[in-house]
Amino acid sequence: MKPRSPSSIISRRLVAKTKIKTVARSLSTRATSKDGPAKIAIDIDANRRLLNRYRFVQHESMRILAGWLPQAADFELKCEMGRSLWENAVQVNALYLRLREIQSPAFQKPTDSALVTLMEELRHAPDEFGLILGIYHVIVPSLIAALASHETATFPNSDQPSVYAIQHALLDLRAQQKRIEPLLAAAARAGKITAAARTWEKYIGALLAHAAGVSGLEARSKKAPRPPKSRTPFTPPREAARDSRFTNRAADMEPMPVEENYREHTVEEFERYSTEMLAAETVGLVMYLVPHMPWEFQFDTARHLYDEVRHCLMGYEWMRGHNMDPFQSPQYLHIYKWRSQFPPVMQYCMLTMGNEVHAFPYRHRRVEAHQKSGDQLSEQFVRYDIADETQHVRFGNRWLPELLKHVGEKRSLKQYVADALDVWRGQYLTGKLSINVE
Ligand SMILES: [Fe+2]
Ligand SMILES: [Fe+2]
Repeated sequence: MKPRSPSSIISRRLVAKTKIKTVARSLSTRATSKDGPAKIAIDIDANRRLLNRYRFVQHESMRILAGWLPQAADFELKCEMGRSLWENAVQVNALYLRLREIQSPAFQKPTDSALVTLMEELRHAPDEFGLILGIYHVIVPSLIAALASHETATFPNSDQPSVYAIQHALLDLRAQQKRIEPLLAAAARAGKITAAARTWEKYIGALLAHAAGVSGLEARSKKAPRPPKSRTPFTPPREAARDSRFTNRAADMEPMPVEENYREHTVEEFERYSTEMLAAETVGLVMYLVPHMPWEFQFDTARHLYDEVRHCLMGYEWMRGHNMDPFQSPQYLHIYKWRSQFPPVMQYCMLTMGNEVHAFPYRHRRVEAHQKSGDQLSEQFVRYDIADETQHVRFGNRWLPELLKHVGEKRSLKQYVADALDVWRGQYLTGKLSINVE
């Protein structure tokens, strides 16, 4: 390193001194006015309350999107919901890391009942577009405005960790808006946005006005709005929806061509990837049904869900690259229906300890087969899949003991997993799915 000359050290110190003076001046302007000491825009108590409101809104949106995922039919919207809810989880996690430094417990139910009502009502949208309009045309713009104002109104140095989280959240939220808008515009052109969805959007807007915006600092409307007739009480979906492009919904899983038949087997391998939305939908349902597990569980399952959406899209990319139409793939929707009749812990156990644990020997054989045939794309896709699936099994091992405690299960972990795998082997592996019709 070049030794610094004494004059450069002095000039650096001068610059630093001047900077400190500038910051001090700007803080003192904030803290005083000609009428005496002025209020600081966001003091630490207001900061706690605001960050918790943003966290609450994003946390509830994440859960609602997860619960809604199976019943959203529009494929592109469904994929976007999976991505956005994971990004919301990342934002909630950043706020969690900050909130736990300034309050305990880190997550608290907001004391503003109007905000709680807003997020409680949001899930009862008449359809998926009503839900998305409520989130992306009403709540997200208000959240963005609140975050953008918070970013500059708080103490730039003392509260820098909040500013850091806010700046990253803003980046995500604005990118989400950019991705959602063309989907909503296409839906509007196709006449898929109903009057009921528009009425719902207005209702969510009125609920937000009654909560004085996401920040609680906007003008608060006096009267709580009455719900419109289109309000549809949300029940966790027992069936998965697909849009009209999917015509082959209920086919049974046929045996795959033998692995020795490389070409035919590979086509089927990636067609099966294209149906992994079923796994994302099961994880979404589980997330929704066990809301009181520790935050880290919710964070892991949000990622698990999005990984399965990515695996599905990987299948789409592969098929399109090989001139195949993924919308023609059988959707095996009865698998979701079958899985969803079991308690959420059992669904999660069958997925992680059944489907996911047992896939590794096969996946490693496929990597070898793709390497041998010089098919680099297929090899890379499977290796990324193996990396994700390794995490999913890790999540299963980490969270199953907690989940069993959470639901008060009396059986040991070992016994519970053995019993769940008996059902999985007897029904899923044989294809003899018995579905109890209620
Ligand atoms: Fe997967
Ligand atoms: Fe998985």
